[in-house]
Amino acid sequence: MKQLTHKLPVLALIFAVPVFCEFSFQPKDTWTWPTEPKNLKVLPKGTAGDDLKAIMQSWNKALGVKCNHCHVSKEGAPFSQWDFVADTKPEKNMARDMVKMTNGINKKYMTKKFQSKNMISCATCHRGEKAPSM
Ligand code: HEC
Ligand code: HEC
Repeated sequence: MKQLTHKLPVLALIFAVPVFCEFSFQPKDTWTWPTEPKNLKVLPKGTAGDDLKAIMQSWNKALGVKCNHCHVSKEGAPFSQWDFVADTKPEKNMARDMVKMTNGINKKYMTKKFQSKNMISCATCHRGEKAPSM
């Protein structure tokens, strides 16, 4: 009897864990697209919320990547624990240069020189590949 009493707290802990897990498992992430992004250098001023979401998702699709290709992520962690503001990953700055190049071609050539209504986009070159061979 003395032995069993001694083990009771341990047993209680073992049985308590699954119950605890059930309720704390994957709490709903409260992260939302920023209404005031902190570190935009190439996107038009005022790009925020749903506009930012549309652009970021289009880049995922054009390059065939996930958000962590350009942003610092934590394996399996919800977006609220990522650092989207940081410029740590070289791919993020590469993407900025790509935006400048794409805008430049559109402005200088498509619009001015060719008077075209067509615009090139990331997908024109990338076609779902992160590093397209041209
Ligand atoms: C190809 C690279 C790339 C991919 C993929 C990408 N992003 Fe971005 N993201 C950027 C760049 C570059 C900027 C900064 C744009 C600028 O400087 O104007 C940015 C900015 C942001 C910001 C604004 C941060 C701030 O406050 O300054 C958020 C939020 C964000 N991205 C979320 C995402 C999410 C979520 C995904 C996936 C759905 C994603 N991004 C996919 C490159 C990427
Ligand atoms: C004119 C063609 C072209 C356009 C338009 C273009 N890219 Fe690229 N991009 C390339 C090529 C080619 C490479 C591979 C460069 C190399 O050889 O290292 C590349 C590489 C990249 C990389 C580095 C990938 C890696 O993992 O090494 C990123 C990030 C990127 N592009 C993002 C974008 C985004 C975002 C856009 C749209 C705003 C875009 N690109 C538009 C041609 C293009």
